[in-house]
Amino acid sequence: MASYYLDVLIHWVFVVVILLISLKLKPLESQKLNNPRLMQAHAALEAWTHCMTSDPNKITSTWSGPNVCNYTGIYCAPAPDDSTIFTVAGIDLKNANISGSLPEDLGLLTDLDFFHINSNRFTGPLPKNFTKLAYLYELDISFNQFSGPFPQVVLAIPSLRYLDISIPSSVAKMKDTLNEIIISNTGLTGPLPQEIGYLDKVTVFDVSFNRLEGELPGTMQGMKSLEQLVLKHNNFSGVVPTGIFETAADRYSHIDNIGCIFKR
Ligand SMILES: *[C@@H]1O[C@H](CO)[C@@H](O)[C@H](O)[C@H]1NC(C)=O
Ligand SMILES: *[C@@H]1O[C@H](CO)[C@@H](O)[C@H](O)[C@H]1NC(C)=O
Ligand SMILES: *[C@@H]1O[C@H](CO)[C@@H](O)[C@H](O)[C@H]1NC(C)=O
Ligand SMILES: *[C@@H]1O[C@H](CO)[C@@H](O)[C@H](O)[C@H]1NC(C)=O
Repeated sequence: MASYYLDVLIHWVFVVVILLISLKLKPLESQKLNNPRLMQAHAALEAWTHCMTSDPNKITSTWSGPNVCNYTGIYCAPAPDDSTIFTVAGIDLKNANISGSLPEDLGLLTDLDFFHINSNRFTGPLPKNFTKLAYLYELDISFNQFSGPFPQVVLAIPSLRYLDISIPSSVAKMKDTLNEIIISNTGLTGPLPQEIGYLDKVTVFDVSFNRLEGELPGTMQGMKSLEQLVLKHNNFSGVVPTGIFETAADRYSHIDNIGCIFKR
């Protein structure tokens, strides 16, 4: 008899729990997908589509309507500061061959954790409002057609730990403006481009704590103003090309860890 009452009790407890869950779930689900941050994200992505001039593979053909979490290349997740709502956490449009530019409106994607647009044909500057992306951790804009000055904005993105801009050959165009290149600990990969040697006004060149590799280009002899060269914690091979530091040895008293250029 006791076991019968126990069964009935368990049955009702079960029913009540299911009822509570289903009552609670409905508003929660709709709140998750219908909140101000996703509406902001919608505005940002809509503005971006207006800045795209060609999308030959029709990657963004799914980019319509308010449900941005369903767009190709857009990844949603619980917000970093409020797990009850969904927000856009990542964008991955790599290899999409899209041309166009990046609007300032992308700064509305305040919870973005990664932004990968490598291997497209984007041009123009990086939005200044990228500095508002407090959680942005990975930025990969390599293999695009960005040009002009080094995107200083990337140095002001607070959480950034991985940056792949594959130092573009166009770095040479910054010849007259760039005095210091400090791109430390940002995940740079690959060899340094030959064009780095045209930067004859650069006094500080610091690419330490990256994953750069290969030999230092001989053209670095052209970096005639160089006072400080910091290469430590990379995977360079070979030796420092002759001629970089021989001309005015006393100016180069701050050379830091030059020995670290040797592969270990
Ligand atoms: C999401 O997209 C899929 C197709 O990609 C579609 O079947 C589904 O209805 C969409 N969901 C919403 C809520 O728009
Ligand atoms: C990218 O698109 C352009 C223009 O449609 C085309 O000429 C080019 O071949 C495409 N590149 C790749 C790698 O598909
Ligand atoms: C970009 O940032 C500026 C300056 O903070 C702000 O006035 C502007 O509204 C932002 N633009 C967008 C589209 O977020
Ligand atoms: C450094 O380069 C060597 C080969 O050149 C490679 O085996 C090694 O994985 C690289 N290390 C890093 C940290 O990239």
